[in-house]
Amino acid sequence: MATQRTFAMLKPGVLQRRIVGEILSRFEQKGLNIVALKVMSIPALVATTHYAEHKGKSFYDDLIAYIISGPVVAMAIEGDDAIQLVRRMCGPTAVCESLPGTIRGDYCVHTNHNIIHSSDSPESAARELKLFFHPNEIVPWVDGNAHWY
Ligand code: CMP
Repeated sequence: MATQRTFAMLKPGVLQRRIVGEILSRFEQKGLNIVALKVMSIPALVATTHYAEHKGKSFYDDLIAYIISGPVVAMAIEGDDAIQLVRRMCGPTAVCESLPGTIRGDYCVHTNHNIIHSSDSPESAARELKLFFHPNEIVPWVDGNAHWY
């Protein structure tokens, strides 16, 4: 078990649905530390850089149009095995495979609007955190209760 830092992003529509707090609560209650958080509109260049691996796929153009269509909530989350843990809390990319209890399983029905993104590996986490945050926007903090979670 290692402490990791991962990137997650609530996609367009989540602010409008007013469920940002509910979703953030899940990460807090789990015992993960939110160490950066901001509402932002994603510049097109950041969107295409972020999703570069999907360029050429059938859903790519719609994905880019969607992700720049409204404000998102970008965050950095820290904790033991945070990368895999956050991925599991989000549920699989395909919404029909996301079980109730996961974020995608509870809040969406369309895979192309699957409401949250999270990094899938340490390399992706490092790249995505660098793309979305200036180093001084990330504020690690020590949770005195951490051993109880
Ligand atoms: P995300 O985790 O942000 O990474 C890529 C995104 O592409 C994915 O979530 C979905 O929102 C979107 N997407 C749409 N269709 C597909 C698909 N068939 N396979 C994978 N990702 C898809």
